[in-house]
Amino acid sequence: MSARVVVLISGTGSNMAALLDAAADPAYGATVVAVGADRAAAGLARAEQAGVPTFVVPFSEYSDRSEWNRALAERIAEFAPDLVVSAGFMRILGHEVLRENTVINIHPALLPAFPGAHAVRDALDYGVKVTGATAHFVDEGVDTGPVIEQVVVRVEDGDDAASLHERIKTVERRMLVDVVGRLARHGWALNDRQVKLGGAPSKDVTEENR
Ligand code: GAR
Repeated sequence: MSARVVVLISGTGSNMAALLDAAADPAYGATVVAVGADRAAAGLARAEQAGVPTFVVPFSEYSDRSEWNRALAERIAEFAPDLVVSAGFMRILGHEVLRENTVINIHPALLPAFPGAHAVRDALDYGVKVTGATAHFVDEGVDTGPVIEQVVVRVEDGDDAASLHERIKTVERRMLVDVVGRLARHGWALNDRQVKLGGAPSKDVTEENR
């Protein structure tokens, strides 16, 4: 049976779109059953085109964070997901959502370096020579949960935040598709902070790390 996945987005949703494309193959093992957002995100249109239900829980319409988290948890629960994927969702999730769901997040840096909302700019400003993307389980901290997978991207001379982020997103999408598929098909083991993902990484992910 295919794992039920709810994807949360705030913006373009290119990572979500990559998951939709992958999930079109029944052998992938995961189905995107809904896409949610905290605002009128551009990516929702792509999900609607694919016939996937969408919902918006606007952060601005709730008087406090826990009320918003409760409302979000209720919308997510309607779709009974096995996995929630935060893919460019620019909000911190509270225990109201986390206690009921297994949530993974992608982040455009090699955590624990450069957590937060401006990871690509922060890495560039620091002057690092390599950066990348991380997939991790979400806990109540800011980008602090156990790391599932990471891919490396070199910083090139002349990179600005936009050019670097585009290259990161290219490898990040492959990593996300690989990780969600393996979580769905093979499961995982979590021992303290050590994540052991079932199955083998796909070739296009391992090649990025050479
Ligand atoms: C991705 O690069 C994701 O890692 C980042 O937002 C982008 C979303 O792109 N997330 C964060 O910075 C979270 N701190 P997308 O909307 O095109 O998938």
